[in-house]
Amino acid sequence: MRIDILTLFPKMFEGFMNESIIKRAIENKLVEINLIDFREFSSLKHKEVDDTPYGGGAGMVLMCEPIVKAIESVKDEDSLVILTTPQGKTYKQSTAHELKKYKHLIIVCGHYEGYDERIRNFVDLELSIGDYVLTGGEIPAMVICDSVTRLIDGVIKRDSYIDDSFTDNLLDYPTYTKPADFRGLKVPEVLINGNHKLIEEYRKEEQRKRTEERRPDLLGDKDENDK
Ligand code: ADE
Repeated sequence: MRIDILTLFPKMFEGFMNESIIKRAIENKLVEINLIDFREFSSLKHKEVDDTPYGGGAGMVLMCEPIVKAIESVKDEDSLVILTTPQGKTYKQSTAHELKKYKHLIIVCGHYEGYDERIRNFVDLELSIGDYVLTGGEIPAMVICDSVTRLIDGVIKRDSYIDDSFTDNLLDYPTYTKPADFRGLKVPEVLINGNHKLIEEYRKEEQRKRTEERRPDLLGDKDENDK
């Protein structure tokens, strides 16, 4: 998969792309992540990409031209163009599974006080990572990139994500490692005995119990975006 991220702040992605699982996925050519600075597509003398809003109001607004030209510079028939915005559909694990099916994602990071409304005509999907407002779309772009990349075959072991929280609308089961007794806090006996059938049953039951206690909204919930 190829992911092109269109942003005013490409340096924000340095740590993200140069550590751990994402770094390895890039090195192993399982994902290609490109950073495109939309300032490069400004036709103005000082490479401005924003201007004051028509009708007045606070802040600066991203202009159509550099953003749309940046999209057009990378888009082809396989691309899905995503805009990160608090006004978008809520991003979920199920969205990550859907996005994984594409060969090419283009993620446009919104910024400043907003973007020219007409930019929405050039994107396929608007996504929000939650009901709060960030300073820009770079962190949401990393969230999308990270959650999709870890689902790509070969990036992590399938066993590592098959029981992920939110798969089948259930939270993950609890896990433990050595020692078996930490300050009197004991690892459940069933995990130590090594009976795989019983372990599987215990884990399923823990998933159900946890979800009921902590996120009852998930049980029987299809997808809040579908409501
Ligand atoms: N930009 C600012 N806040 C955002 C959010 N919650 N989701 C996506 N993009 C954003």
